[in-house]
Amino acid sequence: MADVVLGIETSCDETSAAVLVGGELSSLIILSQDVHKIFGGVVPELASRAHLTALPAVVDRAIAEAGVSLSAVDAVAVTAGPGLAGALLVGVVYAKSLAYAGGRELIGVHHMEGHLFAPALEDGDLKPPFVALLVSGGHTLLLDVPAWGHYRLLGETRDDAAGEAFDKVASLLGLGYPGGPAIERLAKEGDPTKFAFPRPMIAEGYEFSFSGLKTALLHAVRASDDLDRDRPHLARGFQDAVLDVLVTKLERALRATGYATAVLGGGVACSRALATRAAERLKGVARVAVASPRLNTDNAAMIARAGWYRLGLGERSDWTLDARADLPWPGLETTTPHSPLPTS
Ligand code: KG4
Ligand code: ZN
Repeated sequence: MADVVLGIETSCDETSAAVLVGGELSSLIILSQDVHKIFGGVVPELASRAHLTALPAVVDRAIAEAGVSLSAVDAVAVTAGPGLAGALLVGVVYAKSLAYAGGRELIGVHHMEGHLFAPALEDGDLKPPFVALLVSGGHTLLLDVPAWGHYRLLGETRDDAAGEAFDKVASLLGLGYPGGPAIERLAKEGDPTKFAFPRPMIAEGYEFSFSGLKTALLHAVRASDDLDRDRPHLARGFQDAVLDVLVTKLERALRATGYATAVLGGGVACSRALATRAAERLKGVARVAVASPRLNTDNAAMIARAGWYRLGLGERSDWTLDARADLPWPGLETTTPHSPLPTS
């Protein structure tokens, strides 16, 4: 069993490395690529180049901060997808080289399985069964998790991901990238009664849709005669609508399964507003497990943790491991998605 695992994450715009010793987090370095702020979104080619420049130093720093030497690293866990093809490639090639050169084990990790494992880094008691809501810039997934490694898709988004909606609406409001944190900050000053936005698909089921809500916001922005006055109220109205839909579907899944634990993960789970609202709504129904914001942002600690779990099952990747922008998630059962759960 690998004792010292080096994690590497380069799927989007954070260059990150982490060291786990015996499954416990020992060090984590996250270098966020500021260059994309100039362009209002991630520019894939620039992301790949920035990863290439920074990754060796980020890995060295993670190893130094863990107080181990490179020779002590038994295994390398790396995000193999999904994400930006060129960005992923930098991490995968580097991980393969480190593994090959040192005779180390190698494991490719699915980025969303990483997000799912993030709360387990801080909460050793976290165990399935639970319902997970994974909300990032590229995904909105509601999962029934009867056991680690076994995931049943209840619902996903039909159009924009939740984080993507935050980013697009932030851009409509003239806020910077990434949009989620900017909207959360502004929404704190907003009056929740000023703008009522639709809650798409809230009445039933486990699927999501956010593109209509984005259009509703566009109309409200165009109709405003004083955007500086209305901006915080628009941010608040939008955030309330998204969080209401997310939490309503999460509660529905918990009531249907009868599970006593909810897991929040992905970049949008950095939102304290989401965590607070979920805890309020699920009081008496389920406890809410959510990692600290640093572990919900894209980071290598969650990748190392998910990799450590897979290595523990005896899984290994070989030298054919490839970066795949559309990597399927092993263990994700999508054959009967969106079907109502049996009530227990
Ligand atoms: O998981 P992540 O770091 O990257 C992807 O895998 O996509 O998620 C990034 C997303 C962005 O869309 C960002 O706007 C959103 O997470 N996000 C938030 C907050 N912090 C980050 N959304 C809402 N509220 C926040 N506080
Ligand atoms: Zn992510």
